[in-house]
Amino acid sequence: MFLPLYGLVLFSLVQCLWGDPIVTTKSPQDTIVAPTQEDEDEVEDELQVQLKTYGVIMNDLELCGNIANKTFLPFVGNNSSYIYCVGGNVSSVDTCAIPERVEAECGEEPDCTLVFNYKLQTCTTNIGIEHLTFMPQCVENVLSSFCYDRTCTKYVLCYYNLPVLRECQDNLQYNAETDRCDFPEFVDCVENECSQEITPANITYLASKASCDKYFICADGMPYAQECTEGLYFDESCSCCRPKDKASADQTAQQRNIKPFSRSPPQRADILCPQRGVHFFAHKRRRDAYYYCVQGNGITLDCTPGLLFDPKTRECREPKNIA
Ligand SMILES: *[C@@H]1O[C@H](CO)[C@@H](O)[C@H](O)[C@H]1NC(C)=O
Ligand SMILES: *[C@@H]1O[C@H](CO)[C@@H](O)[C@H](O)[C@H]1NC(C)=O
Ligand SMILES: *[C@@H]1O[C@H](CO)[C@@H](O)[C@H](O)[C@H]1NC(C)=O
Ligand SMILES: *[C@@H]1O[C@H](CO)[C@@H](O)[C@H](O)[C@H]1NC(C)=O
Ligand SMILES: *[C@@H]1O[C@H](CO)[C@@H](O)[C@H](O)[C@H]1NC(C)=O
Repeated sequence: MFLPLYGLVLFSLVQCLWGDPIVTTKSPQDTIVAPTQEDEDEVEDELQVQLKTYGVIMNDLELCGNIANKTFLPFVGNNSSYIYCVGGNVSSVDTCAIPERVEAECGEEPDCTLVFNYKLQTCTTNIGIEHLTFMPQCVENVLSSFCYDRTCTKYVLCYYNLPVLRECQDNLQYNAETDRCDFPEFVDCVENECSQEITPANITYLASKASCDKYFICADGMPYAQECTEGLYFDESCSCCRPKDKASADQTAQQRNIKPFSRSPPQRADILCPQRGVHFFAHKRRRDAYYYCVQGNGITLDCTPGLLFDPKTRECREPKNIA
């Protein structure tokens, strides 16, 4: 029995919740030296160039990788700018706030300007726009992180006011509730799979990563959550709801007790960090944690339970994926 999917209520999604920042301490003195020596001025210049160009320190990652073709990404630290991604590469970085366009759209309205609305994937005036439409910014001297909207896997790690791009590996996704990479069933983000290219004649159905009786429809590049009629389960092979066969198993809800970084006391790094640049080092004793150094300031970050730090990709991953 196949049931059609139309005529269901659309639920709008907020994929990115914001983490509350906390104040961190200076790195300790009672430490060993991390194994890096660099030309400090050159590193500093390169960081500034990346910040200016892309809004984030790239950390050797592809900003446009692993997202739908022809997606517009918001720009960290500038509500008017956007980044256009084509075929996995940055195609252009541009601004909505072109003076002639602002004048045409805003007229005499005070405080009116044009901003990039990532949810609508377009430039709109800032009048009456909710703040969730914008990416957060780093706050001076606090450790915080927030998801890079529309990517599901990428996030921005802030420490000492530097926004550094990070990316979860394999199929892991960034969980804004715990500030770290997590198993997709606890995040259930599909925003990165919804392309602007999809037309009403070419509807995309995406299975939920969390729940068998839930799925998403992509419309105008945004996913809308749907639920199957009671007793039926979403089947990706037919993009339809159907009775459950014994093969699919429900994910049991786990009580996991993970404290987000932004709401727990910062753990000092017991190494001496390089004075310049952004570095990630394997922990000296624990495989499920790592050191994060920003301009000489070090902190210890924990992986989600079940994940271990992979020095090669500098992220937490499932042990089976670490070479
Ligand atoms: C972007 O907009 C938000 C909400 O209006 C505001 O709080 C924030 O300061 C703005 N950011 C920039 C860089 O202008
Ligand atoms: C955002 O970027 C535009 C274009 O590059 C620039 O004119 C504007 O001053 C920037 N706004 C902020 C708050 O940095
Ligand atoms: C993206 O960049 C890669 C490497 O620079 C290149 O091989 C590829 O052709 C580019 N793709 C597009 C669509 O420009
Ligand atoms: C993305 O779109 C561009 C422009 O339409 C096209 O040339 C390219 O082949 C597409 N890339 C992929 C991976 O679909
Ligand atoms: C429908 O969208 C998918 C995903 O973007 C694309 O690969 C496919 O070519 C599209 N089909 C048509 C008929 O436009």
